[in-house]
Amino acid sequence: MAEEFEPIDTLLPQALGSATLSEIEAMAGTKKLYFQKVIWVHHWTQGLFSFRVERPRSLRFRSGEFVMIGLKHGDKPLLRAYSIASPSWEDHLEFFSVKVREGPLTSRLQHMQVGNYVFVSKKPVGTLIIDALKSGKRLFMVATGTGLAPFLSVLRDPETHEKFEEIVITHTVREQEELAYRNFLETEIHDDEIFGELLKDRFTYYPTVTRGEFQTRGRITNRIRSGDFAADLHLTNNRFDPETDHVMVCGSMAFNKEMAAMLEEHGMVEGHNNNPGTYVLERAFVG
Ligand code: A2P
Repeated sequence: MAEEFEPIDTLLPQALGSATLSEIEAMAGTKKLYFQKVIWVHHWTQGLFSFRVERPRSLRFRSGEFVMIGLKHGDKPLLRAYSIASPSWEDHLEFFSVKVREGPLTSRLQHMQVGNYVFVSKKPVGTLIIDALKSGKRLFMVATGTGLAPFLSVLRDPETHEKFEEIVITHTVREQEELAYRNFLETEIHDDEIFGELLKDRFTYYPTVTRGEFQTRGRITNRIRSGDFAADLHLTNNRFDPETDHVMVCGSMAFNKEMAAMLEEHGMVEGHNNNPGTYVLERAFVG
């Protein structure tokens, strides 16, 4: 219920309500959290938005990892896991989020404005990291919804380009408007001074839409099975080849399960931080 929550502007430095900034910082300190300023907010649709916070100087992370993000809720922080969408060399942290009207955190977070503050956990973790994959020829990053976020980070990691010759990102959403970052992946990254050259003829962005009109319609799982995906990408085989292909998966629980079953059926083995394999997966958290 809305009344349970402090209004968002209690996190503005100039309007902390009953709490002082030092009280909030003390709360952050005891929970091992940073307290970071929001520096950019972008609304894609009524249900999706992205935001950036200043990067804490001491925060190190590996591309593909996630942190906990949160707001003050009563006398405690309320936190949810968010994949970091920005590359590990950037001086800000970017996140991609759904807006859930009844969601305890996103119902408030979606109203954030530049100058607000959020909590960010100090210890990034996660399994969608390049180190959890063996070397291979092709890297497929397969996402639904906000599961795209970690791949935006992995795509811009120099290690990814050292380890793989070809990189594919697929993004499946219900309606075309939900293809957040489409312009970035289709155009901007190719115009980038560094990545334009690095990704030339090596990177494919493959969006699919399941409920509206679009040139590539349907769930990615179905397009892989039917052979449409292989045909569109001019791949010689309808199946993933564990010798050359490595896959990262991030989406809803049902999607992850279905992808994992297909990948295992293709002879792929799940990788972990200390034991690299040919695929890795993680649930897109907030949703
Ligand atoms: P669909 O519209 O056919 O359900 P959601 O918004 O529910 O998280 O879904 C995001 C996208 O992921 C939608 O396009 C949805 O397709 C797709 N999706 C959901 N479950 C699966 C699954 N098990 N396999 C493949 N795609 C899925």
